[in-house]
Amino acid sequence: MMTESKKIKIRVCQGTACFVMGASELLEAFEDMPKEWNDVLDVAPVPCLNFCNERAEVGSMPYVTIDGVPYSSMTSVKLRAMMKRLVETAKSPVDNPNSN
Ligand code: FES
Repeated sequence: MMTESKKIKIRVCQGTACFVMGASELLEAFEDMPKEWNDVLDVAPVPCLNFCNERAEVGSMPYVTIDGVPYSSMTSVKLRAMMKRLVETAKSPVDNPNSN
């Protein structure tokens, strides 16, 4: 199990502009999330991430950040797929270049 600080932080904007563009539906990605995903992911809704003022640079609303990296035009289906991939990657064995 990862410590709280090593978990992958997913922040889902629930600010007004993102909310209007469907951010509330992003929370569906967390519904019936397998409990073991909580060992890897730290997910939380947050107020405006302040990307809505920089739309030309980071894409369209709604926004999510994963360990601080912004993702735009997010949907609950895309987010769920990203979360699944992150969990699978975190739980897969790491290749050790020093082992024989
Ligand atoms: S409302 Fe989502 S970034 Fe501002």
